[in-house]
Amino acid sequence: MAHRLYIETVGCQMNVLDSEMVVASLKRQGYELTRNIEQADTILFNTCSVRQHAEDKVYSALGKLKRTKRRYPDKIIGVLGCMAQKDQRLIFERAPYVDLVVGPGQLHRVPELIERARQGQGRQMAVSLGRRDGPVEEIRRSHETFDPLRDPTMRPTPFQAYLRIQIGCDKFCTYCVVPMTRGPEQGRPPSHILAEAHTLAGQGCVEITLLGQTVNSYRYQEGGRTYRLSDLLYALHDVPGIRRIKFVTNYPKDMTDDLLQAVRDLPKVAPYLHVPLQSGSDSILRRMKRGYTVEDYRHMMARIRETLPQVAVASDFIVGFCGETEEDFEQTKQLVRECRFKNSFIFKYSPRPGTKAFELMEDDVPEEVKQRRNNELLEIQNAISEEQNLELLGRTFEVLVEGRSKASWKQNETGPVYQLTGRTPCDRIAVFEGTLDLVGQFVPVTIYDATAHTLFGAVETRQPEPELVSLV
Ligand code: 5AD
Ligand code: SF4
Repeated sequence: MAHRLYIETVGCQMNVLDSEMVVASLKRQGYELTRNIEQADTILFNTCSVRQHAEDKVYSALGKLKRTKRRYPDKIIGVLGCMAQKDQRLIFERAPYVDLVVGPGQLHRVPELIERARQGQGRQMAVSLGRRDGPVEEIRRSHETFDPLRDPTMRPTPFQAYLRIQIGCDKFCTYCVVPMTRGPEQGRPPSHILAEAHTLAGQGCVEITLLGQTVNSYRYQEGGRTYRLSDLLYALHDVPGIRRIKFVTNYPKDMTDDLLQAVRDLPKVAPYLHVPLQSGSDSILRRMKRGYTVEDYRHMMARIRETLPQVAVASDFIVGFCGETEEDFEQTKQLVRECRFKNSFIFKYSPRPGTKAFELMEDDVPEEVKQRRNNELLEIQNAISEEQNLELLGRTFEVLVEGRSKASWKQNETGPVYQLTGRTPCDRIAVFEGTLDLVGQFVPVTIYDATAHTLFGAVETRQPEPELVSLV
């Protein structure tokens, strides 16, 4: 009988993509996916280390498998991803029944390592070199994982895909574990990226999201010239079948004019920019070693608004970072009001072993204060998101229909009608009624109501004048 694989993924889009690759490689070996952990003979967790909470969840899920492993010792249990790279042998110490620990740069070895564990060769571990563990080239190579193996069934939807253009990060923000877990920043060769885009389009993919930790810092040198993200966008724009292109996440300092102009001039590139600010206080930004000041960020926003008046900008914030005073936090609130982000992801600072902040700074903001600041900032952001969404009433957007939003449906004369969901070009979630044949299609949706997080609309049945369908 074929092996049955259960895989659980936490963390960022990069992890979602990594899991897709791992599943693709195991399916090649004859594995079948199951959503039922009890039926699986291979259980994998693809993990995240960005915050303590994400790690706790995995250790607790592992704890629940202790008895399972005692009863069924042949089941293979694996920990993949950033936690594997960060904790390494510690995982075997905390959960001795784990068979496999594989860092994000070594995922291509998963099938082989599972096989070894099955053959009774004991615990298997494959991790990349640490940032100071050898010559740069060797460290780089140890983080390069595989990419071309894809498995459409693992994607969020069959017609949307992530495409990695860069691995690692060299920015070393003092709070962040990513430069340690994913290694040095490396751009993938443009020819590989383009070939993968063609493959994805051939599989029916209409929307691609380019991924990189600091995606707009992408650089690749070849044949005496340097390719930037804007060059990639121009090249990808010509791939037949691809109709929408997004890219995440951006680093404020590298938001260059050539990139903004590419977003403006290429209709397939979504008018959406995720550019995390993290804090609105210069002293906190300095302690975070973000490499820009509030004034720099303001200038960047002004350039964005000038070149792309209709673009939606999203941000990330960390509240309660080491030494953050009420005054620092007030400045963050002020900046959120000023920048009018489409949405913000807000996180409470979580000290991460291995980072500069963990080693050199005191986590001195109490949990209750972090929570209160989180709530306050979220409230300000939600009010802005709602205001912005309400401004969109009456407008028609080209929405890529992703699927059903809820189980609810009703019967009308022509058949069942469902609540569908999709995203506008500027990355806003829209909910509307429609039939399931619309899934995977771009449809014009006119907005009649909105909350902070959702636009409610109706599919335009009259063919609207093309110039009335808003592209942003
Ligand atoms: N604690 C809290 N949030 C963090 N992030 C990164 N590291 C930490 C940390 N140690 C947040 C940042 C980043 C997002 C992906 O996660 O805001 O942009
Ligand atoms: Fe972490 Fe900073 Fe790199 Fe983002 S840019 S992955 S926050 S180190």
